Amino acid sequence: MGNAKPMRVVVAGCGGISNVWFKSINSQPEIEVVGLVDFMAAAAEKQRDVYGLAGAHIYGSLDAALRACAPDIVFDLTVPDAHADNVIIALEHGCHVLTEKPMAHTMPDARRALAAARLAGLQYAVMQNRRYSSGIRRMRALLNSGVLGTLTTVHVDFFIGAHFGGFRDHMVHVLLLDMAIHTFDAIRFVSGADATGVYCKEWNPQGSWYDRDASAVAIFEMTHGIVSTYRGSWSSEGKSTSWESQWRFIGTNGSAVWDGNDVIDAETIRPDPGPVFRHAYDVVIPSALAVLPADHAHDSCIRDFIACVQQGRCPLTSASDNIKSLAMVFAAIESADSGGHVTLVE
Ligand SMILES: NC(=O)c1ccc[n+]([C@@H]2O[C@H](COP(=O)([O-])OP(=O)(O)OC[C@H]3O[C@@H](n4cnc5c(N)ncnc54)[C@H](O)[C@@H]3O)[C@@H](O)[C@H]2O)c1
Repeated sequence: MGNAKPMRVVVAGCGGISNVWFKSINSQPEIEVVGLVDFMAAAAEKQRDVYGLAGAHIYGSLDAALRACAPDIVFDLTVPDAHADNVIIALEHGCHVLTEKPMAHTMPDARRALAAARLAGLQYAVMQNRRYSSGIRRMRALLNSGVLGTLTTVHVDFFIGAHFGGFRDHMVHVLLLDMAIHTFDAIRFVSGADATGVYCKEWNPQGSWYDRDASAVAIFEMTHGIVSTYRGSWSSEGKSTSWESQWRFIGTNGSAVWDGNDVIDAETIRPDPGPVFRHAYDVVIPSALAVLPADHAHDSCIRDFIACVQQGRCPLTSASDNIKSLAMVFAAIESADSGGHVTLVE
C-alpha cells in the first residue's frame, strides 16, 4: 500500500494469545493500535508497556473504545462466549473484524454475527491460523496435484497429554470445543470437502485429570463421498502426535501420511502389466516449502486480513466459510449427547 495511512485498530482482550498478535502487529507499519480493551485494566496496561504501544488508550468495554477511537478494524482476542457480541458491536460501529477462534460459543450466536456482517457489508474473519502453516499447505498442494487420484478417505489422530490446569479441567466437551475446531477446519481445508453428517462418541478415560469429555471419536460423512475419521484425546500420555495431528489420506491411486509437522510420505500405484494380488508402489516426493517460524501462521493470517480489507478481497478464513467448520464441532457434540447420527445443516 506504499504511503497509505495505517489502518486504525482496537484490540479487545489482552490475555495469553495477545502476545502472538502484538508481535505480529508491531512488525506491520500498516497497523496502528489506537485502543486496548480488557475487563482487567492491568492486563491491557501490561501489554501496552511490553509492546511499546504508547499511542493506545485503555478501555474497560469495547463499546467505550469504539465510541472514543472510531477505528477501522477490531481484533477480538477475548474469550469464546464474548466473541459474537463483540463482533456485532464492532460491526455496528462500522469496523471490519478479525476474531480469535472459535467464531462463537454456539451456532445461533455464529449465525447472528454472520448475518450482521452480511448486512453491514464489512469483512468478518476468524483466526484459523493453521491454514497458514507450511505443513498443511504442502499437504493440500499434494492432494490438489491429483497424484493420489480421487480422494476417498481422511483419517486424523490427535493425542496429547495436555495438563493446562485452569478452566479447561472443568469444561464440558473440552476437546471438541477447545481444540477440535482446528482439526475439523483442517480436514475441510485439505480435502476441499464439507461435512454432511456425523456420528460421535465422547468419554473421559480412567485416570483423566479433566472432569469430563477429554477423549472423542467421530466419523464424518463429507461431500464428494469422502469419509473422514477423527480420534482425539487430551488425556493420553506417551506417543504424542503433533498439535496439527497425524494424518492418512487415501485416494484411488495411492495414499499419503503426514506427521503434522514437516514429514509427508506418499506412495502411488506403479503401472502393472496385468492383474496382481498387491500392486508395487512408487514413492512420491512432495514439493519443499521453507520452514517458517512458529508464530508465522498467526502473522500470515493477520497480514492477509489487512490486505483483504485494503483490496476488498474475501479472506481465506472468512466467517462465511468458517461457520462450516464450527458446525462440525456442534454436530459432533450433538451426536455425542444424543448417541445418534446428526445431519449437518448450515
Ligand atoms: N488460534 C490459536 O491457536 C489460539 C491459541 C490460544 C487461544 N486462542 C483463543 O484466543 C482467545 C483468548 O484466549 P487466551 O488464551 O488469550 O485467554 P485469556 O483468558 O488468557 O485472555 C482473555 C482476556 O480477555 C479478557 N476479556 C474476556 N472477555 C472480555 C470482554 N468481553 N471484553 C474485554 N475483555 C475481555 C480477559 O480479561 C482476559 O484478559 C480464546 O478464544 C482462545 O480460544 C486461540
